[in-house]
Amino acid sequence: MSEMTDRDLLNMAREAAKNAYVPYSRFPVGAALECADGTVFTGCNVENSALGSTICAERTAIVKAVSEGYRHFVRMAIYGEGENYCMPCGACRQVMQEFAGEDDMEILCTRSGGRYVSYKLSKLMPYPFEM
Ligand code: THU
Repeated sequence: MSEMTDRDLLNMAREAAKNAYVPYSRFPVGAALECADGTVFTGCNVENSALGSTICAERTAIVKAVSEGYRHFVRMAIYGEGENYCMPCGACRQVMQEFAGEDDMEILCTRSGGRYVSYKLSKLMPYPFEM
């Protein structure tokens, strides 16, 4: 059982959003990814003048983890200060799914004011592409 609470992970995601590079949208997003052994990788969105080259906070965190040798994830917190809950985009869901393994990852999504909702990845990504 993880010692980290949802709030702990959400606070790490909020902290990570401070590094967001968002000159185009002005919409900072932060993510905190908890691995099976309790290690946490954080990420922020990194925008680009070629807008389609923008990388979301969630994928930043996942790529950081995988490139450090971590592939088993249990929970991800996503921080965004919007009116709506900051849900992961389709591309990020597909990337989460790649490393979902046997277990169902939990995704925590915030909105302004700090409220959050929690979903299992299988609910957000019911029919993923797989090869
Ligand atoms: N964004 C994320 O980083 N994660 C999400 O879950 C949704 C959107 C970013 C991409 C872009 O930099 C900004 O939010 C507005 O779309």
